[in-house]
Amino acid sequence: MSKVSLTIDGKKVEVPPGTTILEAAKSANLRIPTLCYLPEVQAIGACRVCLVEIEGNKNLQASCVFPATDDLVVRTNSKKVQEARKFTVELLLSAHPQECLTCARNLKCELQRLAEEMGIREVRSVPAVRDGLPGDSAGRGAVCAGTRVRYLHRAGLRG
Ligand code: SF4
Ligand code: FES
Repeated sequence: MSKVSLTIDGKKVEVPPGTTILEAAKSANLRIPTLCYLPEVQAIGACRVCLVEIEGNKNLQASCVFPATDDLVVRTNSKKVQEARKFTVELLLSAHPQECLTCARNLKCELQRLAEEMGIREVRSVPAVRDGLPGDSAGRGAVCAGTRVRYLHRAGLRG
């Protein structure tokens, strides 16, 4: 079967058709952070932490559900991506119970780890988003994404 060829962070990547950008990046040893992505379960594209920038595309896209196609040029860590990702994590934290010290997932938690990696030292109140995250097409679900991620965390399905 012929492969699709795209560029991610300046690297040429070839993957089978039907591969997502997240999987394509992974195959090239490029890490894109995720929260709601569960490889063994249908991707829901809910948390928006895996946003990437695609050349010629005005809006950032969730890489866990966006298909890799020929000639895409993808940036996984541009300033725009970093800012939107940080805002997403802040939004999730602002709607999250501050219970790390007593939580069973303390120190094994991806949300906690991402917050640390992004230098988020305090949880500020982020206003509810109705029209989308900065640069994100999917205003859909910015708020309910928090609920879904909380559910996954609580259910122990995601760190
Ligand atoms: S799930 Fe993670 S961020 Fe949430 S309370 Fe537990 S350790 Fe803290
Ligand atoms: S990991 Fe892609 S939207 Fe959550």
